[in-house]
Amino acid sequence: MQLPQLAVLIALATVGPTVVGTDMASSAQRPLTPPLVISSLSGRDLFRFYCASCHGLTGKGDGPVASSLTRPPPDLTTIAERNGGTFPSEWLERFVAGDDRPAAAHGSREMPVWGPIFQSLEPRDRLTPVRIANVVAYVESLQKR
Ligand code: HEC
Repeated sequence: MQLPQLAVLIALATVGPTVVGTDMASSAQRPLTPPLVISSLSGRDLFRFYCASCHGLTGKGDGPVASSLTRPPPDLTTIAERNGGTFPSEWLERFVAGDDRPAAAHGSREMPVWGPIFQSLEPRDRLTPVRIANVVAYVESLQKR
C-alpha cells in the first residue's frame, strides 16, 4: 500500500466512525481498531464513512480533514452545474475508482483512488464497482437544484 493511501486510511480510522456516528458510547465496548470496512453498500453510508472527512457531510468541501489538504476538495454539489447541467456519472465513477487518473498512482493528487483502496480492504470482494456506483449516485443526489 502506498503512503498516501495509508494516510487516508489512518484519517478514516480517526474520523470515519465519528462522522458515521457509530455507537461507541461505552468505552468498554469500543473496539481497539475502528472498522475500515463497512458492510453497507448504501451510497449515503459509504459517503459518510469514506468521503465526508474531506468533502463534508453535504459534499460542499468542509470536512474536518479538508483544511490540511493543499488542494481544497471541490464543491460536489455543483458538479452538474459546472458541467452544463448534466451529471457525468460514468466519468465520475472512473474518477472515483481511479481508472482515469494515472497520475494518482504516483501520489501527486490528493483525492484518493478508491478502486484499489476498496479492493485492498476486501481482496476477494466483487462489490467494489457497486460501492463506487452507489457512492457516485449519492453524490448525484447532493446536486443543488
Ligand atoms: C483525503 C481527502 C479526500 C477524500 C477522503 C475523498 N476525496 Fe474526493 N476529492 C478530494 C480532492 C482534494 C479533490 C480534488 C482533486 C483533483 O481535482 O485533483 C477531490 C475530488 C473529487 C471529485 C471530483 C469533483 C469535481 O468537481 O471535479 C469527486 C466526484 C470526488 N472527489 C468524490 C469523492 C468520493 C465519492 C469520495 C469517497 C469515496 C471521496 N471523494 C473521498 C479529496 C478527497
